[in-house]
Amino acid sequence: MSSQKEFIENNKERFLEELFEILRIPSISADSQYKGDVLKTAEAVAESLKKAGADTVEICETPGYPIVYGEKLVDPSLPTVLVYGHYDVQPPDPMELWTTEPFDPVVRKTDIHPDGAIFARGACDDKGQMFMHVKALEVMNATDSLACNIKFMIEGEEEVGSENLGWFVKRNKEKLAADVILISDTGMIANDTPSITTGLRGLSYVEVKVTGPNRDLHSGLYGGAVANPINVLSNMIASLQDDNLHITIPGFYEDVQELSETERKAMAEAPFSLDAYKKALDLSDVHGELGYSTPERASIRPTLDVNGIWGGYTGEGAKTVIPSWAKAKISMRLVPNQDPEKITNLFMDHFTKIAPASVKVEVTPHHGGLPYVSPVDDPGYKAASAAMEESFGKTPVPVRSGGSIPIVALFEQELGLKSILMGFGLDSDAIHSPNEHYGLFNFYKGIETIPLFFKHFKSQKA
Ligand code: BES
Ligand code: MN
Ligand code: MN
Repeated sequence: MSSQKEFIENNKERFLEELFEILRIPSISADSQYKGDVLKTAEAVAESLKKAGADTVEICETPGYPIVYGEKLVDPSLPTVLVYGHYDVQPPDPMELWTTEPFDPVVRKTDIHPDGAIFARGACDDKGQMFMHVKALEVMNATDSLACNIKFMIEGEEEVGSENLGWFVKRNKEKLAADVILISDTGMIANDTPSITTGLRGLSYVEVKVTGPNRDLHSGLYGGAVANPINVLSNMIASLQDDNLHITIPGFYEDVQELSETERKAMAEAPFSLDAYKKALDLSDVHGELGYSTPERASIRPTLDVNGIWGGYTGEGAKTVIPSWAKAKISMRLVPNQDPEKITNLFMDHFTKIAPASVKVEVTPHHGGLPYVSPVDDPGYKAASAAMEESFGKTPVPVRSGGSIPIVALFEQELGLKSILMGFGLDSDAIHSPNEHYGLFNFYKGIETIPLFFKHFKSQKA
């Protein structure tokens, strides 16, 4: 065991430099301009798996970006762990808010990461966390201690909805056969408070357009006499929540699973400071659904948020105009047992119904995803808990997260496998934001903990 730690210690610098090489490629899946870079990243990940000791490595084509598959099968009588991660990243904009270049990784100290953190787009979400698994394979290989068979499935479309991963999984069930899926693409409470994610929210995402007059109009000549699409859209959006911040779409809460008092009490025991939360975001107060705590609002309750709204004149100076149209992007985070298709349909019906006769409304659905929960009495959870306990010296706390990894529910449907969400990021790591970073402590602690998961999973299954 200590030889694993020694191997990590002796190769620390090289591991970091290898991660930097992957972070330098701008694999932005949302922007087709970066297609060449996304493909190059798939190749770099495939190369790294070969170098780490995988026996078979393939770049599997899909109708979209390829999936990197790798495996090392040591013994058919041993359990098999399937590792999932993603090599694509979010667009870095707004660029001007980055202190250093998003695709030129550097290490800087922060208050939360006194030992230093890697600043780069994808450092935490998910290249840094995915790469811990590649290096963990190298560690287990080099120290001859791989306790289970291992398979990798690293995709390049997570940040745009994982559409082709579903396609791939449905066609490769045998290849992907395993006993558990292990994922590091979530966070934990703090570096001295390890936790394991036991739930993810689902997602329903729509774009709406409100159209008024057939052209932009002079707001003096027509103002007050025709509907202004921006005013109307704002009112419609405002009406989607009542004074208690309860969502008003009929049927929206119908399938929501309420937690028992015991479960809510257990949740309230996880360390959380409202003061620190407000301070970190520079807020004088929080906001949310009546009757629920901040951690509950951000995990076990569904939400409705506008992600972007535009229309009319937004250039310099003033232009007196009634715009012809207004648009917004709206996301709804869903909890068990809400169904994204059903929620999208409820939204469409309701949004069309509340529109005044003076405008036309169009609703276009985008990608969605199912919510997920994993039980704590599962052998995979127990192995993750034992592994973190061994590496952190503390039992990890189970926590339901507010984020989404839509493909996790599909893994369960198609492969019949539970996913263990053993993530090492922190909420403060600014994923999807400018200055995304990932602690060096977290990177190396992950590489140390993953082999322990394999060890404990083997004994759980024995
Ligand atoms: N890794 C994140 C999800 C995440 C982060 C879950 C932290 C829990 C804690 C993932 O890459 C992501 O950003 N997912 C998207 C959904 C996707 C459909 C674009 C999200 O949650 O917005
Ligand atoms: Mn991610
Ligand atoms: Mn993400």
